[in-house]
Amino acid sequence: MSAPPKTVLTTTPKEEAAIRQAVRATDLSLLGPGARIAGPSHIEGLVALLSDPAVSAPIYDLPRPINPQTVGDWIEETAQLQALGEAVLVVTLDSEGTVAGYSRFTVWPERASAEIAGARRADLQNLGGGRSGAAGSFNWMFEALGVRLIGVTAATDNPRSAKVIEAAGFVPMGQRDAIRPDGSVRASFYWELTREAWLARRG
Ligand SMILES: CC(C)(COP(=O)(O)OP(=O)(O)OC[C@H]1O[C@@H](n2cnc3c(N)ncnc32)[C@H](O)[C@@H]1OP(=O)(O)O)[C@@H](O)C(=O)NCCC(=O)NCCS
Repeated sequence: MSAPPKTVLTTTPKEEAAIRQAVRATDLSLLGPGARIAGPSHIEGLVALLSDPAVSAPIYDLPRPINPQTVGDWIEETAQLQALGEAVLVVTLDSEGTVAGYSRFTVWPERASAEIAGARRADLQNLGGGRSGAAGSFNWMFEALGVRLIGVTAATDNPRSAKVIEAAGFVPMGQRDAIRPDGSVRASFYWELTREAWLARRG
């Protein structure tokens, strides 16, 4: 399951409360016009998206197996965590209103930290959109959620993901074992990016 960053930040009660409120309120405008909070109307689209191994195989924290029940439960569990200020599940709709990607944000408000996992539909992969799409998500996490640290993992055999992560300025911090919901372990590379470093790169 999602694990907090290796680096441990501390917060004031005020900062923690502000992050929880930002997660609850979730202004998605910085994520673009197709971004929506996942709800029951997206179950079918998410099942179709995630049933494709080209989309879901590299991701360790998805429910398995993928079916309407497990995906519906995942949407509901994330909504409950969002009400606590601790997670957001976003789908991206294409111009026809079909689910074309997703991002799940896990937030640790008491550590001003967050993690993201996500994927785009197979027909939208390898077109050069990953870098800008991921950069937009990282920007949103710092700007709209107000976290100060993002940690990310990628399977050790996922060079595309590593490229996208390092292009955004993330610092490699070795490996970590990512734990799948069934308890099995996936070897992962691990990176972190601070808000200061992100702002400095943005100039
Ligand atoms: C990971 C993902 C979001 C990347 O998006 P994308 O649009 O496919 O990626 P891009 O086309 O922008 O390519 C990303 C980079 O990887 C490079 N790349 C592609 N295939 C590669 C390979 N086999 N080896 C090394 N680099 C590769 C590209 O050249 C590009 O680098 P550049 O920006 O320096 O040119 C997308 O492929 C995806 O959803 N994959 C399935 C799920 C997944 O892996 N999610 C991430 C889990 S951490």
